Amino acid sequence: MNDTSASDTSPHDIDGLAENVPSEMPAVVARRYGTAEVTSIEQVPVPTAPADGVLIRVEASSLNALDWHFLTGTPYMLRAINGLRRPKRIIPGSDVAGVVVAVGADVTDKRVGDKVFGECNGGGCAPYLASKSGHLVTVPDGVSFEAAGATPVAGLTAIQGLRTHGSLEAGDHVLINGAAGGVGTFAVQIAKAMGAEVTAVCSTRNVEMVRALGADTVVDYSTTDVVDGGARFDVMLDNVGNRTPKECRSMLRPGARYVAVSGPKNNPWLDPIPHVVRTWLAMKRSDASFHQFVASPNAEDMTSLAELLASGDIVPAIDRVIGLDGVADGLTEIGSGHAPAKIVVVPS
Ligand SMILES: NC(=O)c1ccc[n+]([C@@H]2O[C@H](COP(=O)([O-])OP(=O)(O)OC[C@H]3O[C@@H](n4cnc5c(N)ncnc54)[C@H](OP(=O)(O)O)[C@@H]3O)[C@@H](O)[C@H]2O)c1
Repeated sequence: MNDTSASDTSPHDIDGLAENVPSEMPAVVARRYGTAEVTSIEQVPVPTAPADGVLIRVEASSLNALDWHFLTGTPYMLRAINGLRRPKRIIPGSDVAGVVVAVGADVTDKRVGDKVFGECNGGGCAPYLASKSGHLVTVPDGVSFEAAGATPVAGLTAIQGLRTHGSLEAGDHVLINGAAGGVGTFAVQIAKAMGAEVTAVCSTRNVEMVRALGADTVVDYSTTDVVDGGARFDVMLDNVGNRTPKECRSMLRPGARYVAVSGPKNNPWLDPIPHVVRTWLAMKRSDASFHQFVASPNAEDMTSLAELLASGDIVPAIDRVIGLDGVADGLTEIGSGHAPAKIVVVPS
């Protein structure tokens, strides 16, 4: 893991930031659906700030399962919003941390030179990115761009899964299934910061990493079945969706919350709908409640994440930092379903 505790947010030359924006830039581009081989690095026009947004010089982005879904166009229902034949979103990277270099006409709360981070509509795998600005927040002093760029999508999913949908409270016992990936590594730390007892499930090679993030109990799924411990969890944050509804129910105490972050991905036409419906029905027949959600960016949750980064309660677990030429391999690893922690992209 890289040490992300040190700050690399050195003062920037605010004068000249706007003037020095080039007209073209190299970017990772995928103009058709497929796996990583449909990506290439191309020269593309630098976008302009929308009226309700900003143009950001990207200091760091990171890869998420979301990028794999947009790259492959799966599940197929995603194509209804991203283009039936060709993707509308052609540059991966839904996380951004960087410096504002231009501000749209309607924006009053951001200025050139501001250091911001947040979730965006793709585009992070390029040196410049245009985004709406309402949900972008300030990178706290002492937090590196790499740490900030690793945080938005995975951190928002973890905090919304635990706090908004899981109603996690101090003293609760939470199970985090899939603790070693982007969402899981944030969830372990956020749950600990909220005062919960954490049991985390991952594979052998990630046990020490997950333990170092603060999990009270780490279950290596290749040697131990977490189901065997019986009904003991108040919240189950399920980042994998590999357990049957009966198994999930058997691990939950009365009044517990099952939070579906992910499900099986075997059938691109249907998944994860059958799993979601079956688990929802199983929870209806029990004392536990079922919660399924798609994480969305908002300033309130981003501010909470900024505070947790500033306090050191979360330190993003970064597996490695890559340039644009490493994005294809990074996406392939994400697509395998076994990427450890976060892969950060520094585009220039
Ligand atoms: N609902 C939403 O809004 C939302 C938002 C973000 C992500 N997601 C979904 O949530 C899932 C997790 O996202 P992510 O960003 O954390 O993905 P990720 O970074 O690709 O990590 C996936 C992790 O799953 C673990 N895993 C695989 N099989 C497992 C098993 N049988 N038991 C326990 N862990 C297992 C892997 O760890 P090992 O190598 O140790 O097996 C890997 O680290 C993805 O499917 C993604 O599509 C949903």
